[in-house]
Amino acid sequence: MKDQMKILAIESSCDETAASLVVEKNGKPKVISSIVSSQINLHKKTGGVVPEVASRAHLESIIPVIDEALKNAGVELCDLTHVAVTAGPGLVGSLMVGFDTAKSFAYGLDLPIVPVNHIEGHIYSACRGSFPLLALTVSGGHTSLTLIHDHGKYETLGETLDDAAGEAFDKVAKLLDLGYPGGPIVSQYAQAYREKMTKSKIHIANKISNNKKTKSKELKPSVCNLTFPRPMLDKPGYDFSFSGLKTAVLTEVKRRLKDKKELTLLDKREICFAFEDAAIDVLVGKAIKAAKKYKLESVLLAGGVSANTRLQNVLKKEVEEIGSKLYLPEKEMMGDNAAMIGIAAYYHIVRGDISSWDKVKIDSNMKL
Ligand code: KG4
Ligand code: ZN
Repeated sequence: MKDQMKILAIESSCDETAASLVVEKNGKPKVISSIVSSQINLHKKTGGVVPEVASRAHLESIIPVIDEALKNAGVELCDLTHVAVTAGPGLVGSLMVGFDTAKSFAYGLDLPIVPVNHIEGHIYSACRGSFPLLALTVSGGHTSLTLIHDHGKYETLGETLDDAAGEAFDKVAKLLDLGYPGGPIVSQYAQAYREKMTKSKIHIANKISNNKKTKSKELKPSVCNLTFPRPMLDKPGYDFSFSGLKTAVLTEVKRRLKDKKELTLLDKREICFAFEDAAIDVLVGKAIKAAKKYKLESVLLAGGVSANTRLQNVLKKEVEEIGSKLYLPEKEMMGDNAAMIGIAAYYHIVRGDISSWDKVKIDSNMKL
């Protein structure tokens, strides 16, 4: 008899093909295996995700990825009790590959299917603390602030009106010719600038204390004079907007290119620093405003951009300043993965929210 819940979870909403085995242990979901096949190298060539290319790559890897997840977990197909799958939001062609595969497994093995919202998955990757919770979900496709009253009870407080935060990082990287995906590279460039500024400050302090004359060249850059706008930060509500910030970066790049052929490494680092600073100010500002207004003791940070150390540190500091606690996903659950889909599905199953293969549909604009 299948007495223990064994969920096969599948994720393919964008550019990672992923499968995971999640079981029930002591009344909680436990991830037994999680396999992610990334398409990063494929999309590097085009500097971004080409939907058609992504769908084809999903088609090639979906079965091997599922097979590996099952093998790693030591679970046979006949042991499974449920199939869970991302039903949206995401790229239609990409979603279809995982979704139709999940439907085939549910049909062939006569199992219930659990459609899961991708954002809900990200939220569950960091879900700890006690309800009500606040989740700041920042990824390549989404930026949202969600009030979570209980398992499955979500209230979207705000979301992006245009570009997602991760998308803005990627676009800035493209403008500066830094490669794909841009988030981690922009963040490294910003960090290099920050370290240089710190060193210069120490240098100035030492020079002053030694009462020696300083050479201006050695002091650069002790401060960053470049600041970008903080879109929506002072506006009421919790919505975000990042396209204006991206345009401000483009304007600055063009301004600097008026009197030289190409940007220097220092130019690029300074622009990344100022951009990251502005983006983080807005994300953290809105999250803290919501946490204070709703008196929330637990704040979750999720989605691919949650890997940004600067964002983690600034948010942690400010969350702790208002007496709350910040929760982050495990490193391997920050980007897209199927373990988070399996965990979210577990709570659907517990409350009887399951379906059958012939009743489920994908929704590329699915709302929480
Ligand atoms: O959640 P995710 O893997 O996929 C989507 O659901 O979109 O997020 C990917 C996004 C990309 O835009 C990537 O550039 C961004 O997360 N990202 C980062 C960092 N690492 C990944 N952005 C800023 N700093 C990072 N360290
Ligand atoms: Zn995602």
